[in-house]
Formats: sequence, structure tokens, C-alpha cells
Amino acid sequence: MGFAFDVPFSVDLSGRVALVTGGNGGIGGMFCRALAACGATVIVLGRNLARCEAVAREIVEGGGKADAIAADVTDEAAMLRVKEEIERRYGHLNILINAAGGAMRDATVPQDQMADGGERTFFDVPVGAVQGELDLNLRGTWLPCKILTPLLLGQAGACVLNVSSMSALCALTRIPGYSAAKAGVSNFTQWLATYLARDGVRVNALAPGFFATEQNHALQFNPDGTPTPRRQKIIDGTPMRRYGELPELIGAMLFLVSEKASGFVTGITLPVDGGFSAYSGV
Ligand SMILES: NC(=O)c1ccc[n+]([C@@H]2O[C@H](COP(=O)([O-])OP(=O)(O)OC[C@H]3O[C@@H](n4cnc5c(N)ncnc54)[C@H](O)[C@@H]3O)[C@@H](O)[C@H]2O)c1
Repeated sequence: MGFAFDVPFSVDLSGRVALVTGGNGGIGGMFCRALAACGATVIVLGRNLARCEAVAREIVEGGGKADAIAADVTDEAAMLRVKEEIERRYGHLNILINAAGGAMRDATVPQDQMADGGERTFFDVPVGAVQGELDLNLRGTWLPCKILTPLLLGQAGACVLNVSSMSALCALTRIPGYSAAKAGVSNFTQWLATYLARDGVRVNALAPGFFATEQNHALQFNPDGTPTPRRQKIIDGTPMRRYGELPELIGAMLFLVSEKASGFVTGITLPVDGGFSAYSGV
């Protein structure tokens, strides 16, 4: 029996090699487990080798196939070493998922509008913090695509899946660097999809709406545990009137990496957002 993990439907990924950046994180780790449950050999990539190995070990001990590799997705030399390692261990890749990313606390603007007041404003946010967000989210997607997509050429079910965000469709308040970077991820997804369309590589993205995770806990809850006004605004702006549950992303991921399910789908950014992007707020 293969690795057991709750997936909404199964697709046959046996014989496929999938690399997931940020594979030791919340969404990336969940995707690694779901891919392994569908028979893929999963390479868990993150900066911290021990944390990647822990995910890979869990999959292997559960009867799946997995491997771990440490690299910073923004570092060209490190990603070139990853390419060499994959060539040496597997010879090719079938699926590349770019899930490393996130917003950074130092780059967050403290208020929605300057007129809301406060001592610190957008103009006090350090340039380096915003650059860090642009690097992690945009360079950290673009660079693995540039270096690793050659390993996908000519392979069965070859595809790239990037993780964008709601903030790509319409800038969210307080996180201008992250929003600009994710808009870049969605735009680059379209560009690469077009570029590789006649070479058998599909390129798509997911745009998760609002999911309760460690990363956004401080934006949702005050130190005393009461919900912040921002949390309520998000719920009011989501027609389904709730946050998403992370496993609700798995079906969209499996759909987009399965050529049987989505063989004529390329260049899209698929929202998984409870209707947030469909609703004007009025
Ligand atoms: N959680 C949400 O609600 C949400 C919503 C929209 C989009 N996203 C996006 O989903 C993706 C995954 O987010 P998550 O919630 O699982 O966050 P997470 O922090 O749990 O996972 C991110 C992972 O990326 C890794 N990482 C960070 N910098 C890296 C680097 N330079 N090189 C290699 N790995 C690096 C981290 O170690 C971590 O494992 C991100 O791109 C995030 O922007 C998340």
C-alpha cells in the first residue's frame, strides 16, 4: 500500500518525480503528502534540510517515495546545485511546484490608508524588507523555473504550478511588496505557459484566498485572542463568509498537475477563495 493521506480524489502520478519548493511549509508540506499519496516520488525542498528530511521521512515511513534537498530558492548557485542533484538522482522532473514564499513582517505597512494615522507609515518601511519580499516571492519562483524547467522537457505530464495569491488580482492593503510580487508571479505564469506551450510543459498557478495559518495569525488575532477588524473585513469580503481550510487547496493542485484532468489548461491562475475575487464588496 502507498502513502496514506486524505485527498479529495486520486490521480495516478506513479512514476512521476515532483519537486516542491517550500515543501517543509504549511501548504508545500501538504502538497508533498498529497502528491505522495497519488504515487509520485516527491522531492521536498526548503532552506532547512532537517525540516525537509522530516517531511520526506514521514512519507517514506508511510510507504511513499520521497527525498529531501536543501536550497534557498533565491540563490542561483544553490538552485544550479539542485538541478545537478536531481539529474544525478533521477535524471528528470515531471512536476515543479513553487510553494516557497510569504509576506514579511518588516515589509508590512501598519495602516490601510495613511489618513488612518499612526507613527509609522509606508514611507518608513525599509527598502530592504520590501526587496526581500520581492526576491522571495518573484525571484524565488522565476529562478527555479528558469533553472529547473529544462528537466521537464519531453517528460510525461510535464507541468509547473506556482503559488500566487489573491493579492495578485487586486492589491491588498498593508502588503504592497507581497502584492506586487504575487502579481508578478501570475504574470510570469502566463508568460512561461505561452513560451513552453508547444514544448509540452503546462504552467499554471493557484491563487489561495484567506486561509488561517501561523504566518497570518498576528493579522487575524490581537494578543488577547480577540479577532482583529481585518479578520472581520476578510470574512465580510468573502461570499462564503469564512476562512478556507488548507486541505481545500489539494483538489485544485491535483487538478492542475494531472494532464488527464487539465491537459488543455495552461496559463491560468486559479482562485481558491470562497468567492473573494468575484465579489466587489457591494
Ligand atoms: N497561507 C495562506 O493563507 C496563503 C495565501 C495565499 C498564498 N499563500 C502562499 O502559499 C505559499 C506557501 O505558504 P504557507 O502558508 O505554506 O507558508 P509557510 O511559511 O508555511 O511555507 C513557506 C515555506 O517556504 C520556505 N521558504 C521561505 N523562504 C525560502 C527560501 N528563500 N528558499 C527556500 N524555501 C524558503 C519556508 O521555510 C517554508 O517552508 C507561499 O507562496 C504563500 O505566499 C499562502
